Amino acid sequence: MHKAPPHITARLQACRTRIQQKGLDGYLVTRRTDQYYLTGFDGEDGAVLLLPRQVILVTDGRFKEAAARTTPWAKAIIREDTIAKTVAPLLKRHRLERIGFDPDHLTVRQHAGLRKAIRPARLVSLPGVTEQLRLIKDETEVTALREAIRIAESAFRTVIRQLRPGTTERQLAAALLFEMQREGAEGASFPIIVAEGPNSSLPHAVPGDRPIKRGSAVLIDWGAVYRGYCSDLTRVVFIHRIPPRFRRLYEHVLAAQSAAIRSIRPAVRMCDVYAAAVDRLKQAGMDRHFPHGLGHGIGLDIHEAPRISRRPAGPFQAGMVVTVEPGVYYPGFGGVRIEDDVLVTNSGCEILSHLERDLESMVVEAWST
Ligand code: GLY
Ligand code: MN
Ligand code: MN
Repeated sequence: MHKAPPHITARLQACRTRIQQKGLDGYLVTRRTDQYYLTGFDGEDGAVLLLPRQVILVTDGRFKEAAARTTPWAKAIIREDTIAKTVAPLLKRHRLERIGFDPDHLTVRQHAGLRKAIRPARLVSLPGVTEQLRLIKDETEVTALREAIRIAESAFRTVIRQLRPGTTERQLAAALLFEMQREGAEGASFPIIVAEGPNSSLPHAVPGDRPIKRGSAVLIDWGAVYRGYCSDLTRVVFIHRIPPRFRRLYEHVLAAQSAAIRSIRPAVRMCDVYAAAVDRLKQAGMDRHFPHGLGHGIGLDIHEAPRISRRPAGPFQAGMVVTVEPGVYYPGFGGVRIEDDVLVTNSGCEILSHLERDLESMVVEAWST
């Protein structure tokens, strides 16, 4: 008899407790990263039916062997019909009446199909079950995140060393992806952003054919996936010299980021950490040019709970891993964002990323023209 590994058992137990508190007989997990979190099975086609004493993994024939390899302790059902029609007879057999689902991760079509197929059992919307658990990272997760960050940083150093005049944004993004994979990443945690000069005022610029040249400011936002876990970093590098206006932007954004990081510890409200960054930008008259949240959780998804923004969203808790990424953007000129990944600890926080971020270290000198 196969047994689930201890970290998975603990997660399943925590989920079941929540489900039982809500008077549910089972819970259908439909988000792929939740499925991986609760079972270790990463197949693209999958759903997990979590029952009080059984875990049922529904997938299709392409993933039969993968499911047996990664999750031998669960009961796998290889579906030949929709998930709804596959799970319906099972619910009937077990006489299950109230089945929970996550409304954020079920399409309207799936919901309608399920509701009809499982009658007289009822579907009950229960958001946030896995989200609440995933907020706090366990040892396994922090270890994976550290490695995802290490890989991203190492690849960055290599690629910056290899920069040559005329390298385009797109080529730099491709080189970063290549290096991350060479170092052991499964891939990039999101489409890499490389934005030269005025493109850097677009917070989510798409790399194009702009060449990087002497005097360029280049914003790079990238991350690696390792064992499913995503890192997320941003740096702005300056080729040979720092354009004077960028110097000012950089120093204030860095000061805002430092002020925010200094204020992170358990029980501090997220909106107060956001305010620490905004207040610092306000002193420089730049707060109106900061159009996004200060940060977000990272984990199996690149953007996950919590969100650090002006909205009250509860306090920090030890074990959260979040980005801190203030940025200011001036259309037609450019932008600066500095992003690091931070683990909330019992007494404060630990910055998990180790790349230099002081202004002078951002100047790329070794550049043969
Ligand atoms: N890479 C997207 C972000 O920083 O949130
Ligand atoms: Mn980012
Ligand atoms: Mn981010």
